[in-house]
Amino acid sequence: MTQLVRAIVDTRALQRNLAAVRGFAPGSRVMAVVKANAYGHGLVPTALALADADGFAVARLEEGAALRRAGLRHPILLLEGVLDDAQLNEAAHQDFDLVVHGENHVELLERQTGPYRFRIWVKIDTGMSRLGFRVDEFPEAWRRLTSLASVAPRPRIMTHLANADLRGDPKTREQIAAFRRVTAGLNAETSIANSAGILAWPESHGDWVRPGLLLYGISPFAGERAEKFGLVPAMTLVTRVIAVRAVRSGESVGYASTWVAERPTRIAIAAAGYGDGYPRNVASGTEVLVNGRSCPLVGRVSMDMIAVDVTDGPAPVAGDEVVLWGRGLPVEEVAAQAGTIPYELICGVSQRVLHEIV
Ligand SMILES: Cc1ncc(COP(=O)(O)O)c(C=O)c1O
Repeated sequence: MTQLVRAIVDTRALQRNLAAVRGFAPGSRVMAVVKANAYGHGLVPTALALADADGFAVARLEEGAALRRAGLRHPILLLEGVLDDAQLNEAAHQDFDLVVHGENHVELLERQTGPYRFRIWVKIDTGMSRLGFRVDEFPEAWRRLTSLASVAPRPRIMTHLANADLRGDPKTREQIAAFRRVTAGLNAETSIANSAGILAWPESHGDWVRPGLLLYGISPFAGERAEKFGLVPAMTLVTRVIAVRAVRSGESVGYASTWVAERPTRIAIAAAGYGDGYPRNVASGTEVLVNGRSCPLVGRVSMDMIAVDVTDGPAPVAGDEVVLWGRGLPVEEVAAQAGTIPYELICGVSQRVLHEIV
C-alpha cells in the first residue's frame, strides 16, 4: 500500500548534523536530545542513527525505556527526573541518569538504602524558573547530595538557558556567569548549552552539550537558515497531488471562502492537512514544492487536504510529489508563516503519517 503522507527521515543527515555539532563544540561530549519521539522523527530509529552520541536525553521514563528495549547501552538522562519511589526504582532498574532538580529529589535519594548508586545531574535554576535549585539553595543541596551513599561519585551539574536564541542577550550572559560562580571549585562536569547555546554562546559549552534542534538540521535562530551552519534537514514531509482542477475567476477555494481566484487558476489538491500535523493557520501564499517547483498554498488548510496554485509552469497530475517542508523548503519558513516555531511543527507530525527511515 502506498501511503500518501510520509515523513522521510534521513539518517545520514542526522549523522552529519551530529558531526557538525562536534565541530561547533569540540571540547564537549554530546548528549543527543531525543525526547518527544526525537522531535517527531521517531525515537528509536533516530537514536540508532545517532549511536555515535555520548548519551541521550529524554524527558520521561517511558522514552528511556524504549531506548533500552532497542538495545542502546548509552547513558540516558531523564531531563525531568523522577516523580516518586516507584519511578526511582524503575530508573535504577533501567540504569538511567537522573536530573535532580528539587528538594523532593534530595529526600527521595536520602530514603534509598539499596546498593544502587544513582548517577545524577544536579540542576541549577539560573533564570529559566522552571526546574532546578535556586542559585542560593544549590550549595546546601549539593552538600547533602554529595554525602549520600545512594549517589554515585562525581555528580554533574547543569542549567538551562532561557534566551540563548537571542544573540547577545544579557540574560544569557548573566545565567552563564551565575552558573560559573556557584559551581566554581567543585570539580564537577558541567552542562549548559542547548542548540542555540552551542552556536551562539561558546562560553556555555562546558563538558557536555545538549543539542536537540541542530541534530534535526534546523536553525534555532529566527531568520537564520540552518544551511548557513552546514546542517541538513533530517525530516522531509511529503505528500501527493490527488486532484487537479480549473477554477474560474471569482470562484473561491476551501472553507470560509477566504481565497478567491483573480484569474483562471489551476489548482492542485494535495493530501495533507492539520490531521497530519500541517499547521492550519498558515497564510495563503505559504510555499510548498510541487514536483520540486515552489507554488503558493491558497485558502484554508483542511484536515486532510490543501489547495495549491499551480497555474504557472507545467501542470502536475494526480500522484505527483508535494514537499511540505524539509529538503529544499526549510521548516523554519513554514513555521514563520504559521506564527510558530519549527519545534512545534516537527513534534506535531501526527500518528497517521508514515515515517520512512532512509
Ligand atoms: C533541558 C534541555 N536541554 C536541552 C534541550 C534541547 O534544546 P534544543 O532543541 O533547543 O537544542 C532541551 C529542549 O527543550 C531541554 O529541555
